[in-house]
Parts: sequence; structure tokens; C-alpha cells
Amino acid sequence: MNPQLRRTVGLTCAFIAAVLLCAAASSRWDRVPAKDHARTNPLAAHPESISAGALIYKEHCEQCHKSDATGDGHKKPSLRTDRIKSATDGDLEWFLRQGDLAHGMPSWSSLPQAQRWQLVTFLRSIQ
Ligand code: HEC
Repeated sequence: MNPQLRRTVGLTCAFIAAVLLCAAASSRWDRVPAKDHARTNPLAAHPESISAGALIYKEHCEQCHKSDATGDGHKKPSLRTDRIKSATDGDLEWFLRQGDLAHGMPSWSSLPQAQRWQLVTFLRSIQ
């Protein structure tokens, strides 16, 4: 390999490695706006909101994330993971509002806000 080409290949590899490292280090929750990230769950830890959240989960979420919330082991992720544990309640409510349609997660912005908080309370209760 000539030196010029070797240098180009070396730099390209270093760049790709850096991009991969950054992708691995940044979490889903890094892009949550600060005010959403800091929001607290007004319905946290109410036993009624756990059971209300469980019902909403059954109706809207179970079909993809499964009844025990461990996902399908493929594209539909488990909701009992360190990533969920490390999220704030505000992160989770924000994500439910946004969804990620490009990757198959619908937006739940049409649900009343209280129902999203009940879902967050439910998700916390099963960790
Ligand atoms: C049509 C299938 C589908 C339905 C219904 C669905 N989800 Fe998802 N969900 C997904 C997929 C696919 C992903 C992964 C998206 C991605 O990687 O960005 C996801 C991701 C998530 C995540 C982020 C997980 C993580 O580790 O980052 C949460 C939280 C979540 N869903 C909660 C819910 C809740 C709560 C409901 C019900 C209101 C729901 N989902 C309904 C398919 C679905």
C-alpha cells in the first residue's frame, strides 16, 4: 500500500472507531430536553396509578413489549433494563410522547398526560 493510501485508510479507520465509540457512550436519554428530563411524576408511587398503568399497558403496549415487558428478544426491546432504570420519570414520559416511529415505536402523545404518567409509574413498579 502506498504511504498516501495507508494514511487515508488509517485516518478513515480512526474516524469510524471514534463514531462507534461515541454512539456506544451516548444514551437514548442524552437527547431529552433539560426541562423534560427534570420533570417529576405527579402520580409516582400511587398504588392506583400502578394498576391504572398496568391496564393501559395491556391495552396499548403488551402487543409489542409482551405481557412481562421483556420484549420479543429482537426489535422490540425489553422494558426491564438498566437503560429504563437509569432514565428519569421525565425522560420516560418524554419518550412516550415522542415515540420513535422510524424504529417502530409509536407516539403516545394522543393519550391524556395523566395516562403517560401512570404508564411511567407502572414501568417503575416492574423494574
Ligand atoms: C407497535 C409496537 C410497539 C408498541 C405498541 C409499543 N412499543 Fe415501545 N417500542 C417499540 C420499539 C420497536 C421500540 C424500540 C424503538 C427504538 O429503538 O428507538 C420501543 C421502545 C420503547 C421504549 C424505549 C426502550 C429503551 O430501552 O430505550 C419504551 C420506554 C417503550 N417503548 C415503552 C412503550 C410503552 C409504555 C408502550 C405502550 C404505551 C409502547 N412502548 C408501545 C415498539 C412498540
